[in-house]
Amino acid sequence: MPKTVIAGNWKMNQNPSEAIELARAIRDGFDAATNVEVVLCPPAISLIGVSEAVQGSAVRVGAQNMHYEDAGAFTGEISPLMLQGICDYVILGHSERRQLFGETDDLVNQKVKAAFRHSLRPILCVGETLEQREGGQANTVIEAQVRAGLSDIVDITGLVLAYEPIWAIGTGQAATPEIASDIMGGAIQQTLQSMFGPAANDVPILYGGSVNPGNVASYMSQSPIHGALVGGASLQAEQFLEIVNLAGAAK
Ligand code: PGA
Repeated sequence: MPKTVIAGNWKMNQNPSEAIELARAIRDGFDAATNVEVVLCPPAISLIGVSEAVQGSAVRVGAQNMHYEDAGAFTGEISPLMLQGICDYVILGHSERRQLFGETDDLVNQKVKAAFRHSLRPILCVGETLEQREGGQANTVIEAQVRAGLSDIVDITGLVLAYEPIWAIGTGQAATPEIASDIMGGAIQQTLQSMFGPAANDVPILYGGSVNPGNVASYMSQSPIHGALVGGASLQAEQFLEIVNLAGAAK
């Protein structure tokens, strides 16, 4: 059973001093005895500040995105080399990147490969739209995203998968634990098994989409769900820590 992971995706929120303040409050309130891997993913400009703020604690840091090249003429981008030593994790293929910034499965795959090359743990996000779910295509879409995102990869040590149905992100319309568990224990776990065999059992699979203190335990009680990727509710230390503690207690 993989370790429980609760990752906070701060998205484009918090200026650098607010980010440090939030990270410090989470660091101070986090009880490492919960045995939860806590990952804070601030905007790129705050990665260094947050990483310094949590240094020496069990709290980990992740980026929200990166380029796949090490360096070069890519205005506005950040490379995996630059993240090394600052972050342990990087969120890749988030639906907002795919939908608003045109990221394709192929691009996401290049980024996942780059993360592995630089010993960063990719949090690979997959998820279907409402239209795809209503059209009965959720399983097919998810399987295709997992296969494409992990194409030509042999060793998946360190991989984290996140199932984030697009219709549940930031909407308050969380997927039921049964819907989430069905996809996570089904399409995702089975695809990982068929591609990587027993190594698939070590991959934490997180649910994301309107997770809050009121619903987190219901997800954690499902065995195929190993953690959560939290957006809105990760922006307040108290709420986020409540999610962490509830998740730790439920597992
Ligand atoms: P949300 O976002 O918790 O605000 O729905 C989750 C995410 O996009 O990672």
